[in-house]
Amino acid sequence: MKTVLGLVVSHRKLGNSEILVKEIMRNIPGECQRQLIRVTDLNLESCKACYGCLQPDAGCKTKDDFNFIMDSIKKADAVIIGVPVYILGPHGYYKLMQDRMVGAYNYTKYTAGKPCAVVVPYGTIGWAGYSKAAASIFPRTLEMKVIDTWMVHATLPAESLLNAENLAYARELGQRIFSGGEYQPGERECPQCGSDLFHLLPGNKIVCPICSATGVLGDDNIPDFSASAHNRYDPHEIEEHFNEYLAEMRARFKAEKDILKGVQKDYREMDWWIKP
Ligand SMILES: Cc1cc2nc3c(=O)[nH]c(=O)nc-3n(C[C@H](O)[C@H](O)[C@H](O)COP(=O)(O)O)c2cc1C
Repeated sequence: MKTVLGLVVSHRKLGNSEILVKEIMRNIPGECQRQLIRVTDLNLESCKACYGCLQPDAGCKTKDDFNFIMDSIKKADAVIIGVPVYILGPHGYYKLMQDRMVGAYNYTKYTAGKPCAVVVPYGTIGWAGYSKAAASIFPRTLEMKVIDTWMVHATLPAESLLNAENLAYARELGQRIFSGGEYQPGERECPQCGSDLFHLLPGNKIVCPICSATGVLGDDNIPDFSASAHNRYDPHEIEEHFNEYLAEMRARFKAEKDILKGVQKDYREMDWWIKP
């Protein structure tokens, strides 16, 4: 039997993230085991930058609940994430999870190609900020098949599903989690990753900061990425960055430790820290 995991990244009980995730999950056809994790109830620390997770299948050495989340994602056949917008970006706990992806290459053999939908409620039109672009970074780093990054305007708890269109969309999304294709970006979104944010470069050039696709701005500023040769979420690029490049940096750090310590020496005595 298939297992579907819902990750709710909001403290708000029965808020929009929770009920949207539940509505999507309950409409998944066929028999499946449903599991939910309220990520904000767990103990998630920030990445300690030890790079220990680069070792094959080492997981993270920090004694918190991150490995539980990753083990649950590894075991699941599909993942539905609900994460609200907090101050123009996804809730900080989502970034905490994302920052722990230095060992991504060790997870992708379990997660690549697994369907994932991300639903992002936001309270104020014009205040979603960079959330849509940011929402897909976590599943794409895990090489998951992103079925949707769905922005839902809803301010009050549960308000999202008062709207009949949202209800119908959530149902339809649930129905196609295992059978549907990947998210289809709009004409003003990056065709590779669906991001709606771009860096504008001289000469009408444009870069997607999320997946690194390069293109040009065409008529009416519609981006044309058809000649792009870059996609950081390509499995080879994920391997190159997370397996090879980061391992090289780890080796370089060991080799240059004494030189770096020499730079640090001058600053060690500046003990100006304050604590609560
Ligand atoms: C601390 C905080 C910051 C918020 N910041 C934004 C924001 O920048 N933009 C926005 O559109 N909504 C913002 N909201 C509104 C929430 O995104 C919105 O109410 C959403 O539906 C909450 O989802 P939930 O019910 O799953 O918690 C914020 C809410 C809180 C509590």
